[in-house]
Amino acid sequence: MKVLVTGASGQLGSDVVLELESRGMEIIAPSHEEFDITNQGLVLQMFEYTEIDAVVHCAAYTAVDLAQEEHIKCHNLNASATRSLAKQCGRLEIPMVYISTDYVFGGAGEEPYEVNDKKSPLNEYGLSKLAGEEAMKAFCNKHFIIRVSWLFGKNGKNFPKTILRLAETRDEISVVADQIGSPTYTKDLAKLIADMLKTKNYGIYHATNEGFVSFFDYAKEIVRQSGKNLIINPTTTDKYKSAARRPLNSRLSKQSLVEAGFELLPPWEDALSRFLKELKI
Ligand SMILES: NC(=O)c1ccc[n+]([C@@H]2O[C@H](COP(=O)([O-])OP(=O)(O)OC[C@H]3O[C@@H](n4cnc5c(N)ncnc54)[C@H](OP(=O)(O)O)[C@@H]3O)[C@@H](O)[C@H]2O)c1
Repeated sequence: MKVLVTGASGQLGSDVVLELESRGMEIIAPSHEEFDITNQGLVLQMFEYTEIDAVVHCAAYTAVDLAQEEHIKCHNLNASATRSLAKQCGRLEIPMVYISTDYVFGGAGEEPYEVNDKKSPLNEYGLSKLAGEEAMKAFCNKHFIIRVSWLFGKNGKNFPKTILRLAETRDEISVVADQIGSPTYTKDLAKLIADMLKTKNYGIYHATNEGFVSFFDYAKEIVRQSGKNLIINPTTTDKYKSAARRPLNSRLSKQSLVEAGFELLPPWEDALSRFLKELKI
């Protein structure tokens, strides 16, 4: 199987490439420079001149706060470029994996969101990712839409790395205690994506490591597991100024994953411990 991976230098894409290669798949993983997916001509050429059996689309505009300002750039990448890829996959009737986000939901209440619950993104990034989902559903029948949250992996900026960095320079920090969700380790997610590609169980899924936690308790666990000295104080989202609004409830139900027979990802504390080992901490 020959798989095109977009965003292969990114946090998730780099682990997807390693995982698919370890399973003997042939990978096409052009860099952003080589293959700008917002260039429709290049997208057409890619599918015309390369035989591709599946696409794992990890490239995205992921700067959530900056997206409030750069919303055109964000929509061009997350919505329009996704549409170009989805059209080609639909035309060739090949499967395409699209990574979406908990930010398509509005974050009210405390119940975990089911895949078909009402969408009401609070920010431009969420709106653009939802438009990407709509394009997938409209143009590519063989779609895997996977909503994930709070990604962390070796090759990217993420919350655990930020806490570890702050632990080197600060004695005390405040972290929001009223945003609840689940971290997702890119290595675990990459395994699930590889498993999905072996099936025809197309559809919409939520995939995160198991367990719900606030950013405050997550930060405390990062400090505890890494043995750093950093005091974490709880604060609330309304006291923490940011350009983009974020949902308070990011809990995602894994019901559709279970129903389709896929394995749940391991608990987030276990994923964090493997991540710290990967970082040699
Ligand atoms: N990070 C999170 O917490 C989170 C949460 C929920 C969902 N997600 C979703 O998960 C997926 C993976 O996220 P991530 O954190 O792994 O992303 P990331 O580390 O920011 O990587 C994004 C990738 O996209 C590439 N890229 C950007 N613009 C491009 C363009 N015009 N053409 C081709 N490639 C381009 C980047 O290459 P360059 O660096 O060379 O530009 C990079 O390889 C995304 O769909 C994201 O929306 C992420």
